[in-house]
Amino acid sequence: MRNNLIAANWKMNGDTASNAALLAGLRLANPNRSCEVVICPPAAYLGQVQALLPEMGFVLGAQDVSAFESGAYTGEVSAAMLRDFGVRYVIVGHSERRKHHAESDELVAQKTKRALAVGITPIVCVGETWAEREAGLAEQTVKRQLAAVIHANGHCISEIVVAYEPVWAIGTGQTATPEVAQQVHALLRAQLRAATERSDRMRILYGGSMNPGNAAQLLAQEDIDGGLVGGASLKGADFLSLVSAAG
Ligand code: 13P
Repeated sequence: MRNNLIAANWKMNGDTASNAALLAGLRLANPNRSCEVVICPPAAYLGQVQALLPEMGFVLGAQDVSAFESGAYTGEVSAAMLRDFGVRYVIVGHSERRKHHAESDELVAQKTKRALAVGITPIVCVGETWAEREAGLAEQTVKRQLAAVIHANGHCISEIVVAYEPVWAIGTGQTATPEVAQQVHALLRAQLRAATERSDRMRILYGGSMNPGNAAQLLAQEDIDGGLVGGASLKGADFLSLVSAAG
């Protein structure tokens, strides 16, 4: 019912030479795969990557989008501009943006709305910190983050992708166990089910130190429908191995 989605979040890494080399290596991906593959380069390289992706059957994603439509917002990139570059997915509410740019749940909800308004699928990130998990607040935190997006987007909510990224697992090598991840994914699916009758078709990705060693077990969980991959997406062989684990 749901085909897996593997999204590469390159974060603030790369240059024209290394991007071209990385993408050249990804040409070896199995052309008969059923999973969808999204590459999210830094905004400065959207044009470069846009030109190289179609021949591989990958689609273009972005790492962020402005909450505003257009105008005097220096440094921002609008949803319409992303669409102009052929962007099909955009990550919103990544924990690094929540932390370093003080993005609130409401701002994330607005960004989601902007993306949906131009036909770009938002990949909405939710996830608790280690302190929140230790305090028994993991479920409450992710539910609050998703609730803000559901509240602002009404019936359009069925058009989003959700990514559960426990903050303590990002870039640390400490992955959530498949059981812990599945527990949160099931909770998020139940929350979506209360908001839309299409929840069974929606994809919920896992992100946080996903690598070739743990991907198959994570992806085998009932409510894990793909991955949002940071570090391993910058290594061609590792990323290829994740793509093949996703089917
Ligand atoms: P890592 O895969 O490097 O842990 O990063 C995950 C992430 O933040 C993807 O958005």
